[in-house]
Amino acid sequence: MDSIDWKCLPFGYIKTDYNVRSYFRDGKWSKLELSTSEYLNVHMAATGLHYGQEAFEGMKAYKGSDGKIRLFRWEENAQRLIFSAKGVMMAEVPPTMFREAVMTAVRKNERFVPPYGSGATLYIRPLLFGSGAEVGVKPAKEYDFVVFVTPVGPYFKGGIRPVETLITREYDRAAPLGTGRLKVGGNYAASLRAIIKARDEGYGNTLFLDAREKKYIDECGPANFFGIKGNTYITPKSESILASITNKSLMQIAESIGMKVEVRPVLVDELSAFDEVGACGTAAVISPIGKIVDTGTKAVYEFCKNGEPGPYTMKLYKQLTGIQSGDVEDTFGWMTVVE
Ligand code: PLP
Ligand code: COI
Repeated sequence: MDSIDWKCLPFGYIKTDYNVRSYFRDGKWSKLELSTSEYLNVHMAATGLHYGQEAFEGMKAYKGSDGKIRLFRWEENAQRLIFSAKGVMMAEVPPTMFREAVMTAVRKNERFVPPYGSGATLYIRPLLFGSGAEVGVKPAKEYDFVVFVTPVGPYFKGGIRPVETLITREYDRAAPLGTGRLKVGGNYAASLRAIIKARDEGYGNTLFLDAREKKYIDECGPANFFGIKGNTYITPKSESILASITNKSLMQIAESIGMKVEVRPVLVDELSAFDEVGACGTAAVISPIGKIVDTGTKAVYEFCKNGEPGPYTMKLYKQLTGIQSGDVEDTFGWMTVVE
């Protein structure tokens, strides 16, 4: 623990002291339990293992210059976990229990919250899965809810450095009426081949197109896509992408600094008309995109030609991360201090 080099932390797993758990049995959730074990005792016929009855969340705790630890819009994560749970027919975690579990996991692992200004944060991973045994395809009667935390650095190497991105045409992440809007494990399993292919070919990220027509931009690996044209922030409207809380917040920030916002289908062809493009999400924060290569059409789109993120991307990044660290006044009421 003493040897954690906060400034060089990768986005990876480090063991912390405690995790928090609750079990849905006989139609109700148990009292939250603290555990020091990194392991779960799972039935081999659990529906989470066989039929992907599973959902998770991703959020962060931020240390401010005032020493306080803050959560960003935790209610949104609680609501999205309910949405995912409904989508794959799992027991729903009540927001009050979600909040208590997250707060407890952060408080109990306070020594792992990276210091202010280190560029690292405490990543929080709430996880819900069907733990009841079934062999037929049906929802489990029992569920486990776990919250663990781990300190992380930037998801994309170099933090706010532009990343090269490969358009994926061989693989779809989610079907139009499928589970793309849910934060369920199956979407991530489906994205792996595209992500690894992009990485093997030297790209930092992958851009998924709409599965039906391959004409529109969906999202960007584990993050939403945005583009900037003039002073307009444009982000895809799609039935198969995750509703990013970061993206929703950036839209509000963009409006607050006088930008226009458009949420609409975005044609791949429109890429050449954007001044700046990027990926956004809890893990990705804002990750500017320097270049997009479409091996299908052979098109290459270039941005950030000077190797620096564009001015609007930087403005949005500074506002968002400033609110999260407590350096910029939180006029939106997004932050909750962990007491
Ligand atoms: N899209 C996908 C597929 C993701 O995994 C994530 C990460 O959570 C996002 C978008 C960004 O969502 P958020 O900003 O809520 O973290
Ligand atoms: C997040 O941004 O929190 C995510 O969940 C992305 C993750 C899959 C690495």
